[in-house]
Amino acid sequence: MMKGTEKYRKQYFLPPERCMDWAEKDAVLRAPVWCSVDLRDGNQALVEPMSLETKIEFFRLLVEIGFKEIEVGFPAASETEYEFLRALIDRDLIPDDVTIQVLTQAREHIIRKTFEAISGAKNVIVHVYNSTSVAQREQVFRKSKEEIRKIAVDGATLLKKLTDEAGARYRFEYSPESFTGTEPEYALEVCNAVLDVWQPTPDRKAIVNLPATVENAMPHVYAQQIEYMHKHLKYRDSVMVSLHPHNDRGCGVAASEFGLLAGADRIEGTLFGNGERTGNADVVTIAMNLYSQGVEPGLNFSDMPYVTALYKKFTGMGISPRQPYAGELVFAAFSGSHQDAIAKGMKYREEKSLTEWNVPYLPIDPHDVGREYDSDVIRINSQSGKGGVGYVLEQAYGVKLPARMKEAMGYCAKHASDVSHKELKADELYALFESEFLNARGVFDVGECHYRQVDGITASVEVIESDGKRTVVEATGNGRLDAVSNALKKYFGIAYTLTGYEQHALTSGSFAQAISYVGVERDGTVYWGAGTHTDIIRSSVRALVSAINNSFRK
Ligand code: KIV
Ligand code: ZN
Repeated sequence: MMKGTEKYRKQYFLPPERCMDWAEKDAVLRAPVWCSVDLRDGNQALVEPMSLETKIEFFRLLVEIGFKEIEVGFPAASETEYEFLRALIDRDLIPDDVTIQVLTQAREHIIRKTFEAISGAKNVIVHVYNSTSVAQREQVFRKSKEEIRKIAVDGATLLKKLTDEAGARYRFEYSPESFTGTEPEYALEVCNAVLDVWQPTPDRKAIVNLPATVENAMPHVYAQQIEYMHKHLKYRDSVMVSLHPHNDRGCGVAASEFGLLAGADRIEGTLFGNGERTGNADVVTIAMNLYSQGVEPGLNFSDMPYVTALYKKFTGMGISPRQPYAGELVFAAFSGSHQDAIAKGMKYREEKSLTEWNVPYLPIDPHDVGREYDSDVIRINSQSGKGGVGYVLEQAYGVKLPARMKEAMGYCAKHASDVSHKELKADELYALFESEFLNARGVFDVGECHYRQVDGITASVEVIESDGKRTVVEATGNGRLDAVSNALKKYFGIAYTLTGYEQHALTSGSFAQAISYVGVERDGTVYWGAGTHTDIIRSSVRALVSAINNSFRK
């Protein structure tokens, strides 16, 4: 087999001058004009292209998200695409503030058919392209640079002529397809020749779309190519420079962002980067990257689960659990230290009533994309620690474990997940808490307790052993719980000290329950128990009973 070193050479061309102004900038300060190409580039890459009705539903979703420019197809390429376009126009499905875009090769009969397809539409961008790269010129078209430029100019001329004849105000877009494999000076020459035909004006701008048809270099190379075009295109005030990156090297988003820094005004891309081969630029990520830096993207992904569900349904494609902002696991923290930091960050945020977001490990607030803290963020498995376990119990069930008890509960959860090799959901975690700490009744329970106040508190406690035997024991203490504890010590002949006692209300309202947590230290080990009841003392006694039972059990 030939070695890669002998087989591959770089396929791109740097501009003839230094174009690195973009590299001095650290952020994109405003959102580009977005154009969705899901229904064209995205659709043409699907194993099973979408049906007409599915495309209509997808179109509606794109409108709902906020796209104002939507490439709806290549109407001259197939009957389905033609019919879809006609359905949009004839059924009046295109909102007045949305412009549809149609793609056509720079060939006369295709352009004519495209114009037939758009008749009656209000706002249209006619997007004409021809390939300009060295590889395409030499291998596919076998034409000279002049001949290729003529194809572009002839196409542009026909677009103008047919638009004038129709008395329409269609907008025009030209793409030197395979731009990134084209010498920048030559791409510029072709684009400027097209612009000379169109004579764009600031109130009727032309779009020059510069596709990385195949991503063949690092994103900073694309940025240099874009900056060169941005600086040298004629009629610049009357031209929208548009990016159309593909993702062959996995840098479609980076290339888009660098291209915006380099002067581009517009981006063509798809939801989640669906598209030919490795896909198009992922507009969801680009938009959310802007959002996470405080720039309003102009696209609404506040209900991401809704968008992902529809996208999967329409395209039949999956979404990786790691897909930025949208994947199932992108906010999930399993590791103990991350969970701890997130839980502390959230608490700090609440305490300080912060409005700005800077919680560790969470690039954005999951709520902003319709995700939940308890089910999506702190996820419990054998990697998790006490912080995460405590956080989930508190968020989902209002159980605020004392710090040292969290540790004990954390070990239980770790062990349970280790044994089952499974994640523990909040309800499973609560069930574990219940069985380990809340209802620990292996050896005995306590029935009626009566208290008298003489020299402290005297409690008479009914001890019920597991075989049903009932005995009443009396003891005195400096409080009710202490008195019950002394009675139990006397009955079982054991010694321990109460080391931790906390309680809080569990639910609000007239039927509020109290939950108590008690730790008992026996022979150097602390055992925990919890108890609930509408009466605080009873909840404390239950907690104590659980803790002592646990000490017998272990
Ligand atoms: O990737 C590409 O070059 C295209 C053009 C038709 C714009 O999709
Ligand atoms: Zn494309």
